[in-house]
Amino acid sequence: MRIFVYPGSFDPVTNGHLDIIDRAAKLCDKLIVAVLVNRSKAPAFTMEERVSFLEQVLSGRDNVEVIPFSGLLVDFMKKHNATTVIKGLRAVSDFEYEFQMALLNKNLDPEIETLFMMTNIKYSYLSSSAVKEIASYGGNIRDLVPEQIVDQIYEKLRKK
Ligand code: PNS
Repeated sequence: MRIFVYPGSFDPVTNGHLDIIDRAAKLCDKLIVAVLVNRSKAPAFTMEERVSFLEQVLSGRDNVEVIPFSGLLVDFMKKHNATTVIKGLRAVSDFEYEFQMALLNKNLDPEIETLFMMTNIKYSYLSSSAVKEIASYGGNIRDLVPEQIVDQIYEKLRKK
């Protein structure tokens, strides 16, 4: 069974993430969306909220599973018998950081492959940070994130 992992902060999940998830899920038997407990970045949404957003949005996709993780990605991969890391690339500017991570992970575990998928051009400008900034000022995020979570995002970010 081919198990792939799509790791990230998903703070919050965007339509760009969802596009990658749907395309990656077709390439494997099971796709694990691994939600990072990041020690260095303070997320706007709690782990519970980020996982809940993903679960709401992904319900009905039977080969996609959402699992929180902390620690090293390669250890998470091994624990779940996963072979491949999926990363989305939006622009050349994403490349250097992703290239470094892919090589570091390869160094930590040579068995693991990183597969880069080009984002849909429609979402090439989109990021979770942009969504948070726009939502905090009450701007329109309806084309940027799945509709099930739009109101929950406004509710949390407008309070601040
Ligand atoms: O959505 P993000 O914040 O860009 O995702 C970053 C993520 C989770 C993919 C990256 O930080 C990660 O893999 N962290 C796990 C820690 C780790 O394995 N570090 C060593 C390789 S850089």
